[in-house]
Amino acid sequence: MSENAATPRTEIDSSVFNPFSPEFVRAPHDTWQRMLRDYPIAWHKELQMWVVNTHELCSAILKNNVFTPNFRMWEHAPPEKPEAEKNDFDKAFDHSLFTVSQKQHLKLRKLTMPAFSKPVMGRIHGKIEDLVTECFDDIGDAEEFDVYDAIANKLPVRAIARMVGVPTDREAFFHDFAVNLIMATRPNLSPKQRDAAIEGTLPGFAFFRELIDERRARDEPGDDFLGSLVGASEDGESLDDYDILAVIFALIAAGSDTATDLHTYAIKGLLEHPDQMQKLRDNPDLMENAIIELLRHGSMGKLPFFRFASEDVDFGGERIGKGQCILVNLSAAWHDPARYPDWDQLDIERRLDGNLVFGAGAHFCIGTYLVRVQGGLMISEFLKRFPDAELANGDGDIDYDYAHHNARRINRLHVRTHQNAARQAA
Ligand code: HEM
Repeated sequence: MSENAATPRTEIDSSVFNPFSPEFVRAPHDTWQRMLRDYPIAWHKELQMWVVNTHELCSAILKNNVFTPNFRMWEHAPPEKPEAEKNDFDKAFDHSLFTVSQKQHLKLRKLTMPAFSKPVMGRIHGKIEDLVTECFDDIGDAEEFDVYDAIANKLPVRAIARMVGVPTDREAFFHDFAVNLIMATRPNLSPKQRDAAIEGTLPGFAFFRELIDERRARDEPGDDFLGSLVGASEDGESLDDYDILAVIFALIAAGSDTATDLHTYAIKGLLEHPDQMQKLRDNPDLMENAIIELLRHGSMGKLPFFRFASEDVDFGGERIGKGQCILVNLSAAWHDPARYPDWDQLDIERRLDGNLVFGAGAHFCIGTYLVRVQGGLMISEFLKRFPDAELANGDGDIDYDYAHHNARRINRLHVRTHQNAARQAA
């Protein structure tokens, strides 16, 4: 028996960490700092999961294969449906990067690599640029606009649609597919609501199956993103239809919600730090570092990422049981004073090597190129078009979607452009 098994585990409850309270969503820093100091790892009695907070422990857990993101390993996971009852959603879920075995995950990451290569992504760049220009043209010369409505809620899903080759006249259809897909994986919905959302994804899966069939029927599947997935092969292995559907599923699930917060938190961070905004205007080469630092500093996660223990294991001085759920609290880790003594400063020149903004280990983010392109184009266009912008009424009349399942989702952020004053002065 382990030494740890004899000592009582460290426990917390909602009086220490309540991710659903509006106070926490608005101002999480005291909670994170307290947990970083007093509870590097603790069992949350109400959430029924371990909460891991420090940079060191979060990094270690992401790199340790004993901890898997496979939801089916959870001790409270609902029973799997019999094979004959599975629909396209269930089958794509079975093939997902978060569900498959480690061996299968490695194979999927290898085979999907060409689709994320520089040449393929380079061709997507122009399409995203058009999209960003359209968003800002729609804002036009408005004196005030809402970053959430005008940018954050519009760009990410359409960027993924363009990435996977959805024709522009089907973007609204793709948007419905994406919304249903995200709802279908929300643990905070009732089974009835989740089933309705799953049903709503089926036309989208049928649409992509047709696109894949059409590519497979060609002599050459094409050199764009979808063609690269259809044509991928290594050591006699290739991706089947459900592997490809699962990649599209993962892009939507992991890449649309996160990028929504990227846009709001980036503009908020820059407008709250005019010195850093000026530095970025003067040195556009800092853009890539600035995006990562804006994400780190804004820390948009509420319940960031999960792992499940595949066996009983001693970790961080605690005994974690097989099947137990672990919250990898990256939002706290990004503000760990042991890693970043000046964690509350936004410094776009900060040295960020070894940061955990896009995770670590086998499941490291696959979408960093799209984040750089989408975020970089949006910020550059914003700086160019609105040189005198500021947050309306000091805080942008900020509001949050308190019911959001995993993010501190800003759903209102008003920016005053002062374009009329600038025009009159000119
Ligand atoms: C601001 C934006 C983003 C942030 C902060 C972010 C962060 C992360 C993190 C921390 C992980 C690791 C998750 C884990 O270990 O459980 C991850 C994984 C992933 N991300 Fe991102 N991400 C962002 C945008 C995107 C975009 C735009 C895409 C798609 C185009 C994307 C696709 C993925 C996928 C597919 C995975 C899973 C990879 C795997 O399991 O092998 N992400 N991301």
